Amino acid sequence: MNLLVIAVDGFVSASRFVHWVGEFDELHSQQGWGTGVDTYRHNHAVFDDERIAAGYERLNAGATRFLDAGEQRALVTVAPRCRGTSVLDVGVGAGRTTALLQLISDDYQAIDYSPRMVAAFRRHHPGLDCRVADARDLVDVDAGRHGLILFSNNGIDALAHEDRVGVLEEFRRVVAADGVIVFSTLNKSGPSFGETPFQLRRPTQQSVSLRALAVRTLRWLIDPRSAVRSVRNLRAHRGLTIDHGRWAVGPLAAHGFAPVVHFTSVPDLRDTLAEAGLVPEAVFDERGRPVDMGAQDCSADNFTVIAHAA
Ligand SMILES: C[S@@+](CC[C@H](N)C(=O)[O-])C[C@H]1O[C@@H](n2cnc3c(N)ncnc32)[C@H](O)[C@@H]1O
Repeated sequence: MNLLVIAVDGFVSASRFVHWVGEFDELHSQQGWGTGVDTYRHNHAVFDDERIAAGYERLNAGATRFLDAGEQRALVTVAPRCRGTSVLDVGVGAGRTTALLQLISDDYQAIDYSPRMVAAFRRHHPGLDCRVADARDLVDVDAGRHGLILFSNNGIDALAHEDRVGVLEEFRRVVAADGVIVFSTLNKSGPSFGETPFQLRRPTQQSVSLRALAVRTLRWLIDPRSAVRSVRNLRAHRGLTIDHGRWAVGPLAAHGFAPVVHFTSVPDLRDTLAEAGLVPEAVFDERGRPVDMGAQDCSADNFTVIAHAA
């Protein structure tokens, strides 16, 4: 209880601070700023940052947990079919998904375009095959090689809109004829788009989560520099937010608003898959509920997609 009082107190101070810093809660309603950003280079620098890679290593290297119920449902769905086949873990980071995928197959390979992430992975999984590679160009991988390709935790959103079809086409090339591709991607109509450091509730959500507020406030009390970083990053990146209607680009609250990522929608996701020559078998939201791919809109935070070649 005391902890909660401290947390709420801290939050009130932080809220006062926001008046001094500026009107950050307006981000969600602002559209059309800027002309875009070299998303690939920007996010590569973010994920290869020493502090961020160390954070992944601290939190995820030995982890054996699903990101959310959507990921769990998708992997449990495909596991029987992919058992013993060759698995490619794309954008592996420090290896959160490694143990999960090893339960499906001994033939496990991982890639990440961040040398620091790969180094972190190797420290914890010295016997496993992990190399630095860009998902856009899997030159070393033979066609039809993998029974399962996973690009988890919205990793594909670190790429520019124009690169998404290319990455999925590359996955289609290297997936086996009877193999599957699983990836997750953030939804523009969900609560992760348009977040700000001092929001009382997440965009699109009606209620205030006291737990989330308490965790955030405590984090800032422990490391006040992270609050300053968030404000600074949001200020720097808000001009890079562009809302294209069916999809958008904008800063992501994770990692103190440093990444500038893609947000899709059901219609955009449908078109992207079709353009890449992929058929969605099932799509789940973060709570593991099936997503209607015929819908025009949906308030899910993210989609986990199971797809195969058309
Ligand atoms: C959000 S992190 C997720 C890491 C890990 N999969 C997890 O769930 O903890 C996204 C990861 O994808 C990697 N990544 C992003 N774009 C990539 C690309 N084009 N090729 C390879 N890796 C990429 C980043 O370096 C980062 O490690």
